[in-house]
Order: sequence, then C-alpha cells, then structure tokens
Amino acid sequence: MKTLLSRRRYLQGLGALAGAGLPSLMRAAEPAATVRGTALSLALPALRPGVPVASDERYWDAVAAQYSTTRELVNLENGYYGIMAQPVLVQYQCNVAYLNEHNSIYLRQGFDADVARTRARIAAVLGVQTEEIALTRGATEALQNLISNYRGLKPGDTVMYADLDYGSAQEVFDYLQERRGVKVARIVLPEPASRQGVLDTYAQALERHPGTRLLLLTHVNNKTGLVLPLAELAQLARSRGVDVIVDAAHSFGQIDFQLPQLGVDFAAFNLHKWIGAPLGVGFMYIRRERLKDIAPHLIGASAEEDDIGSRVHSGTGNTANVMTVVAALDFQQAIGIANKAARLRYLRDYWVSRVRGVPGVQVLTPDEPGMAGAITAFRLNGQTSKDANLAIAARLRTEYGIFTVQRGGVARGDCVRVTPALFTRTSDLHRLVAALRAIGRV
Ligand SMILES: Cc1ncc(COP(=O)(O)O)c(C=O)c1O
Repeated sequence: MKTLLSRRRYLQGLGALAGAGLPSLMRAAEPAATVRGTALSLALPALRPGVPVASDERYWDAVAAQYSTTRELVNLENGYYGIMAQPVLVQYQCNVAYLNEHNSIYLRQGFDADVARTRARIAAVLGVQTEEIALTRGATEALQNLISNYRGLKPGDTVMYADLDYGSAQEVFDYLQERRGVKVARIVLPEPASRQGVLDTYAQALERHPGTRLLLLTHVNNKTGLVLPLAELAQLARSRGVDVIVDAAHSFGQIDFQLPQLGVDFAAFNLHKWIGAPLGVGFMYIRRERLKDIAPHLIGASAEEDDIGSRVHSGTGNTANVMTVVAALDFQQAIGIANKAARLRYLRDYWVSRVRGVPGVQVLTPDEPGMAGAITAFRLNGQTSKDANLAIAARLRTEYGIFTVQRGGVARGDCVRVTPALFTRTSDLHRLVAALRAIGRV
C-alpha cells in the first residue's frame, strides 16, 4: 500500500511535469499508463497539402515543441547525443521509478520479455528478423565485438579502413593487426567527396590491396557527415569476396533506409543518437546466415552459440534505458523516419546554401542527393590544425552563442562540425550563417 501511494505521488509529479512542459496538442500519455514503455500516442498536426514536408514550419514547430532544451546556447552539436523528446523522457523517468520499486521481481520476471519486445520492434523498423538483433550499450560495444570476433581472418590477410571512420573502430582494426597478424590498409576518402569519387576510391583501394578480407564502412561518419553509398560499396566488396562491417551509429534515424536494401551482413548501431533513446543503448545486427562467422564474445556467455545473444556479454547495465527504446521508436515513427530525414537534410541545406561560395568558408560535405544528412563540416580560411578549429568553435560559442564542435581525424585536416536536430529553428541557422560570414572574412 505504501509503495502504491508513493508511486502514485511520483507519477502525479511526472504528470505535472509533462503538463507544464508540453503543448496541449501533444501532451504525454497518461503517466500511469506509460510505465514499462507502453506505446506512446502523439497528436501531431496534419502536414499541409501542397507544402513540401521538410518545410512545413507549422508542423515542425509542433515537433520542436516536444523537446525541452536549454537556450543558453544555440546547440548545433546534436551529433553526440540525440536527446529524448519530452514524452520519451517521461516514460524513461517512469521506467526508472518502476524498476526501483519492482527491483528483482521485474528483473527476473519481466525484463526478458521487454528485451524480446524491444529487439522485435527494432527488427521490424529495419526490416530484418528479431534473432538477427542483439542489444548492446551502444555502437562502440557492437563494433568491438563484431570486429574482434570476426572469424574470417588468417595471418597475412588485409583489413581496411578509411580516415573518416570512427576512431574506436579503427583501433579495433589496429588491434587485429597486433593480435591476429593481419595487415591494415588505411585509405583516405576524397575531399571534396562525390558519390563517384567515393566509389572509385574504394574500388581502387581494393584493387591495390587484393588480400583484403574485411572492410569497415561508416554509413554516416562523425567528422564530416558524409553519407556513403553503402549498397553499391557492399556490392563491390561482395564481388571481391570482402566482408563488410558497417558502423551505422549515425545513420539509423538520421537518414532513411531499411537494412535489406543495403545488402550488409554485420552492422553496429546505437539508439541514443538519432532514435532519441536514453544514453547507453544500442545493438548489433548479424544476418542470420552469417552468425557462425562471428565468434561468441569471450567465454562463459550465457546464451547458446546459435543465439546472437552469445555475441554480447555486457553484464548488468542500465535497464531503464532498454525499457524506454520502444517509446523512443514510437516517437520516431509518429513523425516517420523518412519525413524526419527530409527535415534534417532541409535544415542542413538551409545553412549550407547560404554560406557555400562565401569567401573563406569551405564546406566539406557534398550537396549531392544521398551524400549528406543532418551533419556537415566546414573549415574557415583553409585552417586545418586542431588548435585553429578549436578556436573557431570557441569563437562561435563565446561571440555568437552557437555551440559546435571541432573534429579531427580527417586526412586533409581538422574541421568544425555542425549538427542540427528536430528542434533547430531556421532562426538558429541564420545566426550561424551571419557568424560564418563575419568570421570567414577575417
Ligand atoms: C561514427 C560513429 N561510430 C560509432 C560511435 C560510437 O557510438 P556509441 O556512443 O554508441 O558507442 C560514434 C559515436 O559518436 C560515432 O560517431
């Protein structure tokens, strides 16, 4: 009885929070019904006929109003974490409270079913099978397990990655060199990039390194935001007998795709960037027929070898964030990932189109359809050092109130990354444009 009362008080508190923070048309579902991630229902205004989806500002204002964000700075660094929308946050808080109350009674009797439901939902969104999905703490864990346990390598084989791939994934490839006696081929992606330029670069690199057996491909990289033509590259690799591990940390929810269209067998994802789940949850995908090509992770994994669960062994993690994934997916799907991707690309094009060609401003990410999503990087006045780019990001922050981030690891030099989100307003982007025009001239 005491428990019930305290829980009711807690949920009433959340109800007040939701009521205060949300516009009336999109209030969170009744908190008591949201415990353990019951489906969210959102009432978004109808898209206006005749208005392109990406620029229907009335609609996107309503979506933006679903997020509570600080205005201390204009945040154009939404590539690190893609915060929860308020209705998802409310569910997360309910899940934390529920878990704390039910303790091992839930963990031992209810959590497995929630994990199964979550895997099934992820699989459905991506168009694959539930048994091809295993939850992880994020993309790094999925990448580490996929790469380090890949069975198809013998000493002397070559593995390949590019400058724009994620540092922690590159490191696991380097580890393969150290521990498994393989050679690492490091390649540089073209700058400026184009679809054809990227395809040619990989084709030539595989030609130059005929011993390549394993290739890392980052669907959307975290430095310049370049989107790789993944289906064509996977086909190219397949035709040469090369396996591909895809880093999809930034693509799920930022751009629109279904996994079977890409023709890849191994991929790593997170859910805390563009799916808007709480921090610390992701998953790996292994095509069912290829499961045996990834060894179980370490010994003593609790699952059977023919179960993808044996490819991850994280120990006890943040259970409440796993409980919240379905709500995050509900929110994404209420908007529609294709519409979201169109809006993000629109926001990206909005600022890029206003600074491309401005003297001193070099935009690194191509405008070509399919080659960019939300993320784009720039350099100012040809500056490529880490310090210069840190200084540009600092200037944007202190003089213009805009938050961006310096990025390294690009072969031709460092840059500054700009990442809008669904709550970014075109007025925020005008501020960036004015700042770049002013600083670029110096
Ligand atoms: C391209 C890329 N891959 C992998 C990761 C790692 O993702 P996670 O934070 O889920 O471990 C990141 C994170 O920023 C990333 O940008």
